[in-house]
Amino acid sequence: MQRILVFVSLVIPIVTGCSRDEEIIDTYDPARDYFTYADTEAFVTEHLALNLEVDFDASVLRGYATLTMRRVDPAATDVVLDTRDLDIASATVIVDGRTESAGFATGERHDTLGAPLSVAVPADTGERFDLVIEYATRPESTALQWLPPELTAGGRHPMMFSQSQAVHARSWVPLQDTPSVRITYDAIVRTPASLLAVMSADNDPLTPRTGEYRFDMPQPIPSYLLAIAVGNFYFAPLGEDTGIYTEPQMLDASVFEFADTQAMLDTAETMYGPYEWGRYDLLILPPSFPYGGMENPRLSFITPSLLAGDRSLVSVIAHELAHSWSGNLVTNATWRDGWLNEGMTSYIESRLMEVIYDVPRVDEERVIMYRELLLDLERVPEPMQALAPRLDDANPDDFQGTIHYSKGQLFLEYLEKAFGREVFDAFLQSYFEAFAFGTITTEQFLDYLDAELLGREGSPVSRAQAERWVYEAGLPADAPVPTSENLDNAQRLAGSWAAGDTALADVDISAWSPHAKIHFINSLPADLSQAMLAELDAKWQLSETTNAEMARTWFIQVAARRYTDVYAQLEAHLNRYGRGRLIAPVYRALMENGEDAQLAREMFERARHAYHPITAGWIEMSLDRG
Ligand code: BES
Ligand code: ZN
Repeated sequence: MQRILVFVSLVIPIVTGCSRDEEIIDTYDPARDYFTYADTEAFVTEHLALNLEVDFDASVLRGYATLTMRRVDPAATDVVLDTRDLDIASATVIVDGRTESAGFATGERHDTLGAPLSVAVPADTGERFDLVIEYATRPESTALQWLPPELTAGGRHPMMFSQSQAVHARSWVPLQDTPSVRITYDAIVRTPASLLAVMSADNDPLTPRTGEYRFDMPQPIPSYLLAIAVGNFYFAPLGEDTGIYTEPQMLDASVFEFADTQAMLDTAETMYGPYEWGRYDLLILPPSFPYGGMENPRLSFITPSLLAGDRSLVSVIAHELAHSWSGNLVTNATWRDGWLNEGMTSYIESRLMEVIYDVPRVDEERVIMYRELLLDLERVPEPMQALAPRLDDANPDDFQGTIHYSKGQLFLEYLEKAFGREVFDAFLQSYFEAFAFGTITTEQFLDYLDAELLGREGSPVSRAQAERWVYEAGLPADAPVPTSENLDNAQRLAGSWAAGDTALADVDISAWSPHAKIHFINSLPADLSQAMLAELDAKWQLSETTNAEMARTWFIQVAARRYTDVYAQLEAHLNRYGRGRLIAPVYRALMENGEDAQLAREMFERARHAYHPITAGWIEMSLDRG
């Protein structure tokens, strides 16, 4: 990646090369966000006012973004914003009601970063001014998916939704697209009158459908939490402060599946301090939503693949809710510090799940995640195995295996065990209070941890031990190892059945969770015969399962073992879901089985029209590698 802004001030140059002639001065600054063009030492945005028309015919958003800017450096005259594939029509500066058009220029486009938009601002505007950008998105905006009616549950209305994290907000709003800047926002959104718009803001469940919707977000948020969706959405309440938006076809199933959301919210408040955002609602999107969930404030966006009918996959809801503290209230300063968002959220997710459900269930989930972490540690290059790795050129979207999540969670569980739950819970509460509505780097976290816990007399954990988790590859020797009796049992039976010592009919799964079955499947030996795969499939109806996680597990095995009898069902799976986690590993297993690279490419060509641009990008990446 090209270095756009050369920050030399705070950087201690490290000389790396060996011979004198080849000396490379490494100016890497861990506290800098390498994924924005914005210079936040010159200007910062305080407020965003959006005025947008949603044009389904053209698949574009069109209108105005008014940014209230504060000049940090009195000498600065160029505001640089992030954009990607935006058509900029005009730029205007407003100071004290006085309007002046401003010169602007768009720089060269970079695949991950997009293009910088520089606006020349007169030096005499004083400290604060408004910058009005008139613009339109393009149909290929990486944040937005425009769904034709046939890709929705109802099949009669179009839909569109955004996914701004990590660096996609810039593809629907020109702004300083870095988590280190927090803004409040308001918006006016015009849509076809039959549709409802919702945002990561103060949605009112009673809003009449008029085709013009107004939003206000009074709490300051980082740009990656800007979110919008427009569709044939209806609302149903879950509890006092919680509810669901989705298409009418999915409303009842969603109300059943996510009935525990209010209890999760109440529990989180007693454990981690007040919920600072007003309501907490869920928006259940079509299957092409690229993630399990996205923690857009006040309104988490959720994949419908959680609708298993038995509430077995709702840990994703606990996860997105937990982000209301870890991530949305206290935000990673740069994507390199993402473990502070995701690791801490995974930890809190488990804690909430223990209260709402029970410890054995959560232990199952911990073991499943731990196994995925061990597999990832075999794949991920060592430098990227640190919780806070060097991150200055990858794509922050691809940087989201299980290291941030599971290693981060294990680190916090390690601290919890060392200091005791009571002490550690109090630490987290005070952490959220101390950094509320702020951003934090890994180093600030370590300093705070040091001040509150590690530096205490007789502390069971030293700063050096904590730093080992944060900066080194792999897992420390004294890392906790999750265990689950239920899964141990499933694993034992898998071995015993595979060895011919137990008949499948004698494996009594009547009381098993989907996770136990998943673990059974994952524990089967590599040389299991096709006849036994067929027997398992026939008995457990795996190729027909409606549990998305089970289907994921099964079809990874089907592809890896080339069990071609059910390749038609495998392809149906790839068409049914667009959530990256559910399909990318299946494509990868096809690519890696030595025979099916071409088939994987063909299946992708047939399926891609329904995928979100972010998912399509991931799959393309794994297909290119093959
Ligand atoms: N914030 C993430 C999704 C995300 C991460 C988007 C990085 C873009 C870049 C969200 O909270 C998340 O972690 N989703 C997971 C949920 C799971 C770990 C419970 C997912 O989508 O699978
Ligand atoms: Zn998350």
